[in-house]
Amino acid sequence: MNKNALFSPFTLHTSHFFGGGGMGRRILIVDDETSMREFLVILLGREGYAVESAADAETALERLGERSFDLILSDVKMPGLDGIALLERVKRSWPDTAVLMLTAYTTAEDAVEAMKRGAYDYIAKPFKVEELKILVRNALEKLDLKKENVRLRQELRRRFSGFIGKSRSMTELYLLIEKVAASGSSVLIVGESGTGKELAARALHEQSPRRDKPFVAVNCSAIPETLMESELFGHKKGAFTGAIADQPGLFEQAERGTLFLDEIGDLPFLLQAKLLRVLQEKEFRRVGGSEAIKADVRIVAASNRDLQVQLREGTFREDLFYRLNVIMLRMPPLRERVEDIPLLMEHFFRKYTGKAASGPVATPEALKVIISYPFPGNVRELENMVERCTVLSGPMLSRASLPPEMLSFPGPVDLHPLEIPREGMNLEAYLDAMEQRYLSSALEQCHGVKTRAAEFLGLSFRSFRYRLAKFGMDD
Ligand SMILES: Nc1ncnc2c1ncn2[C@@H]1O[C@H](COP(=O)(O)OP(=O)(O)OP(=O)(O)O)[C@@H](O)[C@H]1O
Ligand SMILES: [Mg+2]
Repeated sequence: MNKNALFSPFTLHTSHFFGGGGMGRRILIVDDETSMREFLVILLGREGYAVESAADAETALERLGERSFDLILSDVKMPGLDGIALLERVKRSWPDTAVLMLTAYTTAEDAVEAMKRGAYDYIAKPFKVEELKILVRNALEKLDLKKENVRLRQELRRRFSGFIGKSRSMTELYLLIEKVAASGSSVLIVGESGTGKELAARALHEQSPRRDKPFVAVNCSAIPETLMESELFGHKKGAFTGAIADQPGLFEQAERGTLFLDEIGDLPFLLQAKLLRVLQEKEFRRVGGSEAIKADVRIVAASNRDLQVQLREGTFREDLFYRLNVIMLRMPPLRERVEDIPLLMEHFFRKYTGKAASGPVATPEALKVIISYPFPGNVRELENMVERCTVLSGPMLSRASLPPEMLSFPGPVDLHPLEIPREGMNLEAYLDAMEQRYLSSALEQCHGVKTRAAEFLGLSFRSFRYRLAKFGMDD
């Protein structure tokens, strides 16, 4: 389940990059010795490179100012600015250009100095023609790899940090992710189903120094209890029936990367203790193994259940909870950031039609229904809705194409003008009384489960608790 297979396009690209010799690559030769310059121009020109030359570093810098080069082949000892000084300037102003030094007198110092200042490599004059060709080819290959790597990394980061939403709660979340990503601390992501917990876990990884190492995700509720330990920590051959060979677990696969433990609330109680031990001791043993294996893994856990309830019920270990919950990210439910709905709809519209929307993607009637719907399945439900509607109603989402559960949702209560008693009233006392009645009805209907009652009333748990306290209802 190693999600790092994402890097596979990389192999594809590199192989066809290097199939075609030196075509199109630009090389600049810098040497004060005319015969050497001419020789290199002919030699590398024959290899298919576009080659230019300069007799001194000053001219070379002029050329660099005019157009870009992939590689510079420069002598070290030259009158005026020497090769090392040229190297320094190139590194500063054209960091994407590789530099290969030619050293006439093989003094070790020259070579060491050049490498220290970022030269790709050096070659001592006189050199073997084949050796030079290989060195040039390797330097250019390494350059391609570097560029490709940067491109892929940007692409991945853009994709995985690809949250849509400009609401305040989302903006605060992005900032928090950015800040937290850099640290190695464990993170607990909580939020209802479909709010983007996995997206956040990936963003944490992609923005962390571990981004080039694996991101491994495991859903704790999807693996049978009996297999979970071996899944996480691996096993030795013969550890149990069916263990026909040594096998590394997810911790080993995620080494130096991030392990995402999704639905952590479903982790069996016994394994919670084992996980806690790994987090504390930073090492583990394979099932049936005696050797301790070091673990350098960042743990990101997620849950859409209320772990506080599980703590109280005793189904989740408190010590593990505090270990995981060094930093908590709360994914806001979609109904608390209604202003993001049009943006998300546009995003998913583009995803499913392959076209950017030129205007609004839904009719005003459809939008009215959508906006007042509470989306218990959050972004995932919205995404499914857009997919369904684009299939059913084409380029514009109509009211008729909305799923029945949305159409039958009562929506905001009809507000008819209210009559006020002739003698006047105490609005505050009246509203307080109404509020108290709604709070206790919700609690009753939800059998005293406060998180559910809060949800039922469309309130955040915080706000619900605050209201209970206000009326002394928080037992
Ligand atoms: N802010 C967002 N912008 C764009 N896409 C989003 C956003 N939030 C969620 N999504 C998309 O919605 C879907 C559900 O997100 P994700 O799987 O991360 O949710 P989750 O919180 O892990 O849900 P669950 O608890 O059900 O596993 C994914 O396709 C994800 O890409
Ligand atoms: Mg998920």
